[in-house]
Amino acid sequence: MKQYLKMDEWKIIENHFDAENNQISESIFSIGNGYMGQRANFEEQYSGKSLQGSYMAGVYYPDKTRVGWWKNGYPEYFAKVLNSTNWIGIDISIDGEAVDLAKCQVNDFVRILNMKDGYLQRSFTAKLPSGKKIKVDAKRFVSIVQKEIGAIKYSVTPIDFDGVLTISPYLDGNVKNTDSNYDEKFWDEIYSNSAMGEASLTVKTKKLDFYVNSSMKYDIEQSGKKINFNARTKLEKKFVGNVVELKIKRDEDTTIYKYVANVTSRDYKIDELENVGKTILEKAFDKGFEELLNEQAEAWHNKWKESDIVIEGDVSAQQAIRFNIFQLNQTYTGEDDRLNIGPKGFTGEKYGGSTYWDTEAYCLPFYLSTADQKIARQLLIYRYKQLDKAKENAKKLGFTKGALYPMVTMNGEECHNEWEITFEEIHRNGAIAHAIYNYVNYTGDKSYLGQYGLDVLVEISRFWEERVNFSNNKGKYVMLGVTGPNEYENNSNNNWYTNRIAVWTLEYTLQVIDYLKNNEPERYAELHNKLNIKDTEISKWKDIIDNMYYPVEEKLGIYLQQDGYMDKEQILVKDLDPKNLPLNQNWSWDRILRSCFIKQADVLQGLYFLEDRYDTATIKRNFDFYEPRTVHESSLSSCVHSILAAKIGYYEKAYEMYLRTARLDLDNYNNDTEDGCHITSMAGTWMSVVQGFGGMRVRNGKLVLNPFLPGHWNSFSFKVMFRGTLLKIDISKENVVVTNEAEQELTITIYDEDILIPGEETTVIVNKLRN
Ligand code: BGC
Repeated sequence: MKQYLKMDEWKIIENHFDAENNQISESIFSIGNGYMGQRANFEEQYSGKSLQGSYMAGVYYPDKTRVGWWKNGYPEYFAKVLNSTNWIGIDISIDGEAVDLAKCQVNDFVRILNMKDGYLQRSFTAKLPSGKKIKVDAKRFVSIVQKEIGAIKYSVTPIDFDGVLTISPYLDGNVKNTDSNYDEKFWDEIYSNSAMGEASLTVKTKKLDFYVNSSMKYDIEQSGKKINFNARTKLEKKFVGNVVELKIKRDEDTTIYKYVANVTSRDYKIDELENVGKTILEKAFDKGFEELLNEQAEAWHNKWKESDIVIEGDVSAQQAIRFNIFQLNQTYTGEDDRLNIGPKGFTGEKYGGSTYWDTEAYCLPFYLSTADQKIARQLLIYRYKQLDKAKENAKKLGFTKGALYPMVTMNGEECHNEWEITFEEIHRNGAIAHAIYNYVNYTGDKSYLGQYGLDVLVEISRFWEERVNFSNNKGKYVMLGVTGPNEYENNSNNNWYTNRIAVWTLEYTLQVIDYLKNNEPERYAELHNKLNIKDTEISKWKDIIDNMYYPVEEKLGIYLQQDGYMDKEQILVKDLDPKNLPLNQNWSWDRILRSCFIKQADVLQGLYFLEDRYDTATIKRNFDFYEPRTVHESSLSSCVHSILAAKIGYYEKAYEMYLRTARLDLDNYNNDTEDGCHITSMAGTWMSVVQGFGGMRVRNGKLVLNPFLPGHWNSFSFKVMFRGTLLKIDISKENVVVTNEAEQELTITIYDEDILIPGEETTVIVNKLRN
């Protein structure tokens, strides 16, 4: 854990340069707009420790798999989000001496991520090895108004000398991925051009043929006035740029405004790329930096209007939750249904930028409640479009029918290669089915079921049908050799969660079939034919629903994580010498597998998803048994525990669990923020506040709230968008104040009572869960 950032409600602030923290800060201060992302690398050259990262969403590389012992069924490649053309580069030198913070004495360093307005800012003074002192101010953003545009304002002021400043803005395609398996560079040059004041570079991936064109244009001001300048052009392999030499005078600033458009063959025809890029760039250039930044700020303010959470009385918590919301909105905007949310978003290379079950299990609720429903719908469409690949995946593993969605994917193909995850962690299929339920339950958009939902549900159900087998011994259906969400157990038989979510999928599929038969008979007839739904399979599904085996521990009245779990030596985490923790860094894998310790919510994940089917006493018994055995070594663990703890009235526990992830990256809690931020777990943190502390659910088409105030806060409020109505819910010790920001009225349930909230009005209810 490392706390070096300053507290502020709207900003992340680093006010001291420490090269040791640089890579962590590069992750934390990342900027993105759902289309591209940029780590907080410096514009000027830097020879210290750094992970250079410029990412274009959906532009990836199938890096050849590296694995010690090949198993049939492994994917041939691991899809990597690519480190693309470095578009931020502006080299600076003074009288021929390069500015490189690793070689200078740095003072007054401040780096700020302005979350309210959506930009990154940095300033410092540097004493160069020659003794000359300069002051630098830099500001940059990637636009959420015009997604292809990145803009930089970079000023240099000599403090104690007159001299010559050389500014070299450039675009550099000589980049590689730090995590490339065979140290390959993934890009070839296709086109390059450099002229006075502008340059353009098109590169293409060596496989899959993604083309990316980056075009730059810039102008320069001295003491606030635009100047005419001469530039030398630079045209090298995969590198284009300009070199400008300017006389500078003590205390007079020189400012370069660099504008870049990044366009890709995912959106435009290859032979149009340079022209499209140029047109978009010219428009941005004509607007100028300040106007672009104003637009950016306004667009961010609008996002905040729909998604902000305000916490009074705890600046650290306030900063953290806004950081999480900011990063989630930087990562996914729902504009493109071919994109999804990588566990690290655009903040690093780890997890390859690929899609995991994290999206359905943890991220969907955030986008459902903080934006128009079409945004969350896009996440579902992504899986719908990949259904054929999921069917191929099931075939590849030897199934005769059905769909198995990959554990890790970019384009629908599996790209993870650990047998216990690739082949066994099949519960992901359940989360994808559950997301359809979650979306329809939240939005009421039942049209989704006939349009897209049933196709996915039927194919997942078919997979479950074939994946279970009837045990003559037990006289029940069983599911053998799986890995549940708790990855600290592999090859288990009858993981309760997996059996449960499989049966739930079958039940829900049958319900949806009934719904469509009764409400959209024509569409159902079409789907019945298209999907070739047979009566025999429907009766088989019913048989599995009625006769599935679930491991239980009768004496304790709990569901058992898997067969044989109680044979393990039962130790609680609190009784472990803390020096063993985290287990995954201190214990052999063998020891972890034999122990009773749980990585993340497993049985409890099921109780969270299917909460309505279990009474509070059951949830409590299972929580009391499993949480003390859980080491929470996945950042996705705490949110589920926090929400369930709140549900069963363990308010302190709910808060403690929330704290574990709220500042996970800001305080580098797991010592791994330098690899990138935990984007998907940030959605979990949001869930802890809204579903945990706010007790928000949707039942029978109604929004339900059961809010309590964590003891450490004076009050908190959150915004939710529910079926076209934007609500603000304010929770203080005394009251729950609901403001309906829409015109239409809405009836919601608060503390089990139905309350009508008229449009544009505020309703005050007494807080019944005073903590
Ligand atoms: C977790 C998985 C998760 C993955 C990516 C793992 O550590 O156990 O549940 O999908 O990280 O976030």
